[in-house]
Amino acid sequence: MVIFGASGDLTKRKLMPALYSLYKEERLPKELSILGIGRTVYTDTDYRSYILKEIKLFLNSSEQDGPMMESFVSHLYYLSIDPAIESEYGQLSCRLEELSGEERPDNLLYYLATPPSLYGVIPLHLKKWRLNSKHARIIVEKPFGYDLESAQELNRIYSSAFDERQIYRIDHFLGKETAQNLLAFRFANGIFEPLWNRNYIDYVEVTAVENLGIEQRGGFYDTTGALRDMVQNHLIQLVALTAMEPPAAFNADSFRNEVVKVYESLTPLNEVDLDEHIVRGQYTVSGSKKGYREEKNIPEDSRTETYIAMKLGISNWRWSGVPFYIRTGKQMPTKVTEIVVHFKETPHQMFRMAGDKAPIANKLILRLQPNEGIVLKFGMKLPGPGFEVKQVMMDFSYDKLGGVPSGDAYARLIEDCIQGDPTLFTRSDAVEASWRFFDPILQYWKEHTEAPLYGYPAGTWGPLESEAMMHEHGAEWTNPCKNLTNTDEYCEL
Ligand code: BG6
Repeated sequence: MVIFGASGDLTKRKLMPALYSLYKEERLPKELSILGIGRTVYTDTDYRSYILKEIKLFLNSSEQDGPMMESFVSHLYYLSIDPAIESEYGQLSCRLEELSGEERPDNLLYYLATPPSLYGVIPLHLKKWRLNSKHARIIVEKPFGYDLESAQELNRIYSSAFDERQIYRIDHFLGKETAQNLLAFRFANGIFEPLWNRNYIDYVEVTAVENLGIEQRGGFYDTTGALRDMVQNHLIQLVALTAMEPPAAFNADSFRNEVVKVYESLTPLNEVDLDEHIVRGQYTVSGSKKGYREEKNIPEDSRTETYIAMKLGISNWRWSGVPFYIRTGKQMPTKVTEIVVHFKETPHQMFRMAGDKAPIANKLILRLQPNEGIVLKFGMKLPGPGFEVKQVMMDFSYDKLGGVPSGDAYARLIEDCIQGDPTLFTRSDAVEASWRFFDPILQYWKEHTEAPLYGYPAGTWGPLESEAMMHEHGAEWTNPCKNLTNTDEYCEL
């Protein structure tokens, strides 16, 4: 396995801990060498000590096993080259021969954990040095492309060096156990599917917010923004899982065909008033929390969005007229990813709601993180005289399943790639279909520099305008409690 970007953040935070946990569970091939590539200079020994030190910071104490970690890092090697320079790949070729003991090693997995500017360069250099052997696989991080045109260009580059079956475009949200469970929830249970459509569902919310700022990623983030970083990939994948038709079989092609159909059914945004369908925000200073423009490597007048709320439509028989409200933001009050399905109210209300509240419709909350679980809210009669109805919750928490730990998304996806299963990776047509939908927004912002960008104090739920967008539908965002400790705390602020 060759990791480009081996001295970077993703490698130490996600990839190495994931590889270590696979190693510990004996889920990696016995004969394995992991070769890190980066510009920082390390010897093999220095790199091993560096990773050993770092993974301790990113693994739970229960996962740490001293001798096992020593044994894991003994499989690590390092080569300091600049992956942008083609002539340096000669050294990579030699190192691969030496490590594999083969003149033309074929059993290779490349992982591109580099800045996106290198995504188009590395496959071309690998091809030039004939390191794109027919059994090699290549995992490439998101965002895949900067807009539609660059994504198409990247697809052309990749397909000139590899077959589509060798290319694994990763979106780690699909590796999350709970994202996959959404499919089981929908398609392994007969009772929800008949209700899963415009006749019974009023609107759907998809939220993926975080309570951290941009940390040390200023340079990357300011040229990316929330739309490219989260919406074009993670959020839209969650919309696809919620909205897709049942695949004919659970295999890579059938599943990914249905994902593409959802993207192709999104109501094109050039047909609507963008400023009414999108709220863009940027966090501002609040108490001891820095504003976005005060963060390291961010220009004082940056107009990059750190928050997006959008109203999407899906123009097909199942979803026509049902809005999907999606939002993501940095520096929100808490970190939570969840999908909330709001069912329609009963056509006729006979009962008084407890406390004289307005009638509340049924609501299904699928929480992806933290405290993974599912909650169904429904009305029950309050004990005693009269007929007062109160909303109660039926909840299922993943940790009650026991046995299997909820598993890291990266570990799951790396293992799928090793086994040659691309189901949970994005296919070339899906990435382009998604960009085709989002491209007009980027174009619009480029052409209309005056398009609104609202400030929101760090630590709040984003610009008030996003509330107004929901109010138009007579709806409100479901804001989970600040400190989520268990499913009993599903509530609205
Ligand atoms: C990454 C984004 O893809 O996902 C980050 O680049 C974001 O900006 C992260 O913080 C969120 O992932 P998770 O799994 O922590 O919710």
